[in-house]
Amino acid sequence: MIVGGIVRVPGDKSITHRALMLAAMARGTSHIGGALTSLDTRSTAGALRRLGAGVSPLRAGGLVRVEGRGRLRRPEAPLDCGNSGTTARLLAGLLAAHRFRATLVGDRSLRRRPMRRVTEPLAAMGAAFDPPGADTLPLTVRGGRLHAVRWDLPVSSAQIKASILLAAAAAGVSASLREPAGLSRDHTERMLRAFGYGCEDRAGRIEFTPSGTIEPFDMQVPGDASSAAFLVGAALLAEGGEVAVADVGVNPTRSAYLAVLERMGARVEVGGIEDRFGEPVGRITAGPARLFATEVAGGEIAGLVDEVPLLAVLASRAEGETVFREVGELRVKESDRLALVAANLRALGTRAEAVGDTLHVEGGDAPPRGRVTTAGDHRLAMAFAVLGTVRGARVTVDDPGCVAVSFPGFPAVLRSIRRRA
Ligand code: S3P
Repeated sequence: MIVGGIVRVPGDKSITHRALMLAAMARGTSHIGGALTSLDTRSTAGALRRLGAGVSPLRAGGLVRVEGRGRLRRPEAPLDCGNSGTTARLLAGLLAAHRFRATLVGDRSLRRRPMRRVTEPLAAMGAAFDPPGADTLPLTVRGGRLHAVRWDLPVSSAQIKASILLAAAAAGVSASLREPAGLSRDHTERMLRAFGYGCEDRAGRIEFTPSGTIEPFDMQVPGDASSAAFLVGAALLAEGGEVAVADVGVNPTRSAYLAVLERMGARVEVGGIEDRFGEPVGRITAGPARLFATEVAGGEIAGLVDEVPLLAVLASRAEGETVFREVGELRVKESDRLALVAANLRALGTRAEAVGDTLHVEGGDAPPRGRVTTAGDHRLAMAFAVLGTVRGARVTVDDPGCVAVSFPGFPAVLRSIRRRA
């Protein structure tokens, strides 16, 4: 296809979750513009309402008003986190610092995702969990009086890091954290610094000191870098034209996929960068390119963890075999993304294999044809919809509606960049 236009993507999912939670913890009224109004962020808003915060309805294009009470209140009913791992893990952190019981529940996908990675450090800080030692939802958090923690994360993960940092901020204690393989997204650190907390990287450890206060704030959420990646991918696979994604987050801990694309021979430019509430925001421009295989190293994964499905479909159109190393974390995302990326690529005629925690994809130029199984995973639905834009493709996605988890309106935005030849 030929592409063109300047598009915007919905607000950043990670930043929206964090902004809602921090606003609920502040005493007073905050306003969040450009918030993502997807199923996942609605799960966070719903849970915060049950915890006593006033959160106005999340409507696309509208401003979200949050009335925080300085603390969360004991909920009358379980907190439904839906499909959202970020909601469950970050809320567990906040709840750990509150002296009441609250139960986290989730959908089928979320109920199979590991939680011990957050309950263990939170228990080390002084919280208790029911059932003790449980690794999955439903899970009851019994918050307590927390103390400082020094913790080496088992995997580089922004959700673990944010859970501990939010617990530490809510309890007013220090934390010292280390990620083993590259820095995961640092939105929490940036926001906490904006509230006066000490949150510095010292010799590979994040040193958090409780020197700040969570005050009501007004912020504008930038476009989601991970949502933008799908449009960048569609532009790279096009036969002509150029697409610009405006007003999008270009935080370096989210942009590692751009470096991989450059190695693959892509034409991608980032410009017009400005600072918004501590986050770099800019414009990404991309156009068609002949792609070549690359090797993606383990240390790169934390900075592109959500982009692996997209990079894998792009690799299926590149010359040679692309290898993604140490991508085992993808097995515990909204689906077993590693197995499903490989199986779906094979279903469309590509040679691809997930062995242990490595993914191999052999590029080719035959038109992809077949049916894609998403298991309700939004990023798989979008990555394969992008692959479905290449000439001669006939790709059917079994559950295209699941994109509403992070990018409501994705099909319309993808259609909007299509130009007549
Ligand atoms: C997120 C962190 C990432 C990512 C998820 C959102 C966050 O997971 O996959 O979509 O908002 O903290 P990790 O915990 O693996 O970094």
